[in-house]
Amino acid sequence: LNVMMGAARKAGRGMVRDFGEVEKLQVSMKGTSDFVSSADLKAEKTIRAELSKARPAFGFLLEEGGEVGGDDKSHRWIVDPIDGTTNFLHGIPQFAVSIGLERDGELIAGVVYEPISDSLFHAEKGAGAYLNEWRLRVSARRKLEESVLTTGIPHRGRPGQDVFIKELTAVMQETAGVRRFGSAALDLAYVAAGRCEGYWESGIKPWDIAAGIVLVKESGGYVSDFDGKGDMLATGDIVAANDQLHSKLVSLLRKARG
Ligand code: IPD
Repeated sequence: LNVMMGAARKAGRGMVRDFGEVEKLQVSMKGTSDFVSSADLKAEKTIRAELSKARPAFGFLLEEGGEVGGDDKSHRWIVDPIDGTTNFLHGIPQFAVSIGLERDGELIAGVVYEPISDSLFHAEKGAGAYLNEWRLRVSARRKLEESVLTTGIPHRGRPGQDVFIKELTAVMQETAGVRRFGSAALDLAYVAAGRCEGYWESGIKPWDIAAGIVLVKESGGYVSDFDGKGDMLATGDIVAANDQLHSKLVSLLRKARG
């Protein structure tokens, strides 16, 4: 965890500098409305170098660099250097470094670092979740009508827009509010911190959610795919919520999707 936190902080320092001069960055498109900047690439290089220095044999799954095999087949870092690239490029300060660690296919540690607010969310399996030095607990609200949820809205060119409208309509009708922050890693961190009661999204990538999954579980929450199973990294579907609301949210979304 210390290695992960160090790597996230180091990459975050460069990101804060780049955020101040965002207009000077080189930006290209990976797909329709899917951007990558020189800041993403630089941050990924820093994180990879820091993690490799400490654990040379571990493999990687990197947002920009893809799968990189290591000699140690049990351990894999799952890294999104800037989760919330669109926010970053628009001067919106909500973006985060996300680093998860998997051992034999199980997520065992996660770090989500929001550099602008210097908020370091971290968790290790069995040891609890923290924001800086404060222990996190999911929200204790039990009723959907008192709950605030977060989600991701599919952008131009991304599949699933019709289904998303159905889900949003159902959730809007049952809850106190829906937020869209623009970083799945922070959405999960906010659920872990009890700021929001739940989060759902489809078509999400493993690097966006790996670290956040550990945060939610270690703060007493539940995370699953839309079938209530644990295949979030494979399906790209995720529902995270406090223990009281998770099953209610899964049923609501399933009903809405038809
Ligand atoms: C995006 C963010 C966003 C989510 C998108 C992701 P990126 O990640 O997490 O909140 O709605 O699905 O692609 O591209 O900024 O790393």
